[in-house]
Amino acid sequence: MADQYAVIGNPIGHTKSPLIHGLFAEASGQDMSYVAIEGPTQPPEGFAEAVRAFIDAGGKGMNVTAPFKLQAFSMADECSERARLAGAVNAMKFEHGRIIAENFDGVGLVRDIEVNLAQPMAGKRVLMLGSGGAVRGALLPFIAAGPRELVLANRDVSKVKALVNEVAADVSLVACGYAELEKMGQFDLVVNATSASLTGDLPPVPSTVFSTTGAAYELAYGKRLTPFLRLARVAGVPVIADGVGMLVEQAAEAFAWWRGVRPQTRAVIDRLTVPLD
Ligand code: ATR
Repeated sequence: MADQYAVIGNPIGHTKSPLIHGLFAEASGQDMSYVAIEGPTQPPEGFAEAVRAFIDAGGKGMNVTAPFKLQAFSMADECSERARLAGAVNAMKFEHGRIIAENFDGVGLVRDIEVNLAQPMAGKRVLMLGSGGAVRGALLPFIAAGPRELVLANRDVSKVKALVNEVAADVSLVACGYAELEKMGQFDLVVNATSASLTGDLPPVPSTVFSTTGAAYELAYGKRLTPFLRLARVAGVPVIADGVGMLVEQAAEAFAWWRGVRPQTRAVIDRLTVPLD
């Protein structure tokens, strides 16, 4: 029987993961199946039971999406440093009855920015908006990319201040509110990792942060030109992108981790891209 993998979430109807992993498997000749599982949100232990049932049926690995990323973290036997800082898990591998947990969202994001968009972060000024799971997951991979300065801005400043205090960084790491951004000049890269775009809102970011030689990245995907990306475009930012590449790259990281084969991502990204305009 083919090796079995799955993504678990609730709701799960719109997930692209089976399509992405199916394309990876086909292109790299891997004998595997990948299905979507709607995990139960009730009773509270329903998620863990669903994962155990998948393991008992011979499952080799799982992706985890909302609302289960924190529960997946708490049921892991082993966990990477980046998953620990995120407090959230988006990929699990099952080996000898143990659950090994990872979070590839941040590395997928960095790879999309640095490789696909050709915007290396080393030595650059980088601004990330938000303080939720997306930012927590991205923090260590962003620091590892070696920016000259990494600024985290959030409406509730106490959250980003607390986050900055949790990490030992050898880059300049600053936490602030949106008003302070007015005085901070331009950034080579601005990443919107808030959930504002999901409701069509714009974080209160001043347009002075954008650079006419830089990039702007929206974590949400398939939402076309969000208010954030529109602001960046009007400010003259030449490279603007949504999170479709991150989605595919985090999947590629998980695939490589599970199968030992790194899949090509370009064709899959092209297939899933919804044009911004
Ligand atoms: P996730 O885990 O998906 O990142 P989350 O933990 O709910 O989501 O965090 C949402 C983030 O989006 C927070 O940083 C939130 O800011 P606050 O912590 O100040 O509430 C941010 N956010 C949501 N709506 C926003 C908006 N309209 N403008 C700016 N930030 C917003």
